[in-house]
Amino acid sequence: MAILFDESKKTFTLHTDHSTYQMQLDRYGYLLHLYYGRRSEGCMDYLLQFADRGFSGNPYDAGLDRTYSLDVLPQEFPVQGSGDYRATLLSLRDESGAWGCDLRYQSHAIERGKYALAGLPAVYAEAEEDESETLRIELKNERTGLRVTLLYGVLPRLDIITRSAIVSNEGSGTVTVDRLGSACLDFVSGDFDLLSFYGRHALERQLCRRPVEHGLLSVGSRRGYSSHHYNPFVILCDRDATETSGRCWAMQYVYSGGFRADCERDGYEQTRLSMSLAGEKFAYPLAPGESLTAPEVILTYSDTGLETISHNLHRCLQKHVCRGKYRDAVRPILLNSWEASYFDFSGESLLRLADEAKALGVEMLVMDDGWFGARRDDCRALGDWSANEEKLGGSLGDLIREVNRRGLKFGIWMEPEMVSEDSELYRAHPDWALAIPGEKPQRSRYQLVLDLSRREVCEEIYKRICAVLDQGNIEYLKWDVNRSIAEAFSHEDKAQGRVLYDYMLGLYDILERLVQRYPDLLIEGCSGGGGRFDAGMLYYSPQIWCSDNTDAVNRLSIQYGTSFGYPVSAMGSHVSACPNHQTGRTTPLSTRGTVAMSGTFGFELDPAKLSEEEKREVGRQIAAFKADAALIHGGLYYRLSDPGRERVGAWEFAAEDGSEALVCAVLQEIEGNMTGSYLRLRGLTPGTLYRCREDGRTYPAAALMDMGFPLPLSLHQYESLTRHFERV
Ligand code: GLA
Repeated sequence: MAILFDESKKTFTLHTDHSTYQMQLDRYGYLLHLYYGRRSEGCMDYLLQFADRGFSGNPYDAGLDRTYSLDVLPQEFPVQGSGDYRATLLSLRDESGAWGCDLRYQSHAIERGKYALAGLPAVYAEAEEDESETLRIELKNERTGLRVTLLYGVLPRLDIITRSAIVSNEGSGTVTVDRLGSACLDFVSGDFDLLSFYGRHALERQLCRRPVEHGLLSVGSRRGYSSHHYNPFVILCDRDATETSGRCWAMQYVYSGGFRADCERDGYEQTRLSMSLAGEKFAYPLAPGESLTAPEVILTYSDTGLETISHNLHRCLQKHVCRGKYRDAVRPILLNSWEASYFDFSGESLLRLADEAKALGVEMLVMDDGWFGARRDDCRALGDWSANEEKLGGSLGDLIREVNRRGLKFGIWMEPEMVSEDSELYRAHPDWALAIPGEKPQRSRYQLVLDLSRREVCEEIYKRICAVLDQGNIEYLKWDVNRSIAEAFSHEDKAQGRVLYDYMLGLYDILERLVQRYPDLLIEGCSGGGGRFDAGMLYYSPQIWCSDNTDAVNRLSIQYGTSFGYPVSAMGSHVSACPNHQTGRTTPLSTRGTVAMSGTFGFELDPAKLSEEEKREVGRQIAAFKADAALIHGGLYYRLSDPGRERVGAWEFAAEDGSEALVCAVLQEIEGNMTGSYLRLRGLTPGTLYRCREDGRTYPAAALMDMGFPLPLSLHQYESLTRHFERV
């Protein structure tokens, strides 16, 4: 049993193989958080301390007891207005305008299997196979009739606990939800660091590690999407935690809209970490009978450092969030037309690209932006999803057939959530774009955002996508979204504070219908590269274009940061031409291959511009990737260095049973008369020997892990190394 309720102590205990989560129902019906840490038996309520804390109020029920205050006690679902002045998970108003509500326990249920969330992506697991369980705790506010159902999912073997909450209005008046969080973790003591992942277009998910000091440390996105700027994923850890040691707790949001991750250390040296919907432009009215679901948060704990956190999340996302035919399959090696020709292509040039790609061993041609309507540049035609037959020299179906005839799969680019002002769609339905009446809208990449909070708009987008996909054997869809939302204003008569959330429900509904209708279609998420790289999108698209920046050296820190929360099989990564189009840097083709292979692997260049030797090198890369794909996508990923701080970017894939490992490294900086760099491997079987395929030598596992493997001193700047080690 993963979930236990102790009637005498009134504790709920959630066990995974290596962690325990415990909470307690106290004498007033409040749900207090006790513990989330190493697997443990027994009751942890001894951790609670009661003292008269000045200016911390007491619930009326506590009578003259001034030592009981929700302001200082660790809680499961803190509510604004309950006397807790820290960052809370729920804030609401009733019709009179009164804020707050006093939530008390009503009942609970323990169920086999993992809960699902209507309309929202969530971790899935079987009751039998995964031994998963669900805990539902019902909280109620008598005055407003508000019910909050707290949901906990436990996947014991994966060391994963999920949380969500459903707010339902069972009263007779409307309540407005101004803030809704999914999970918080309260710590009664500890000195922590917070790891978050920041960036910008073309440099996403850079690691930021900083101490949690007194006050509120908050990262999030107000852009309507999860964003390039901050990722909806954070790790709290001991100040001295490393890759292989220390306590760490992760929170990953299964949501692609705006978010807010708050970390607050109070004057009593207590810390609270929480994940919520973005507060800006959010005020969600719930009429009697209506409910609102908080997106899911995935929690995992490790007392063996950051590496275990990543391994837990990689497994969970790969096998319990990603779905469909390509969840477990190696993805086709693709060549994308974007950096090969941008908007400047024809049907003929695409077929030439297909011929060249086929000759190299590529398996799929992806026709990127520029194939529809009057789309000759990025100023126009978004929304007009019918093929420009003049440009393609025939119908889309003809082109697909020609590509297939050459032995290649066919993939296509779309940006369905957007509309250009210069488009048939916008001329017919100007009110379908999000904009404030009487104000000029913000343009971004010349385009506007369609109002996916409206059913009819979603219906039309869905129809148009199906009309494209039905024109032939399209096996891949690159789903792009290339701007942030500025005006969250719908022309439909509705409360505007619900638009951003309803937009996400609309998007997820379209994606879900597509996934059901085209079960073999591979969708690659994209948002100007990795601007919507989150666990929510992975429910529909098992891979996401990691960044528009294809520079192999910049990619080291982008993919490094991404790897903390997301598996390598999710990272869209391509070899592109040099000088690199984003940075102007020239790196060896072999290095570009090494870096792109640590992702989904593909190409983003015109093969006709490669020399014969480069073509042979590409052929070797494709063969190498195919040979190693199972290890790269199925093995354990180890970060051997921090490329943002060290001159070598190094990482490793090791089989779970330690039988083999693939080590990759790129030398970023070089000096005269270089000192040696030694890569300390991990995940090998101590006490055994490993043979290196490339140099034929045998190495002791302990020495490889404790002293390291020397990077050849002959390596030049930007050169890379790959080494296979097999246990003998
Ligand atoms: C975005 C994507 C690119 C490419 C262009 C096309 O920037 O990230 O890969 O598809 O759009 O306009």
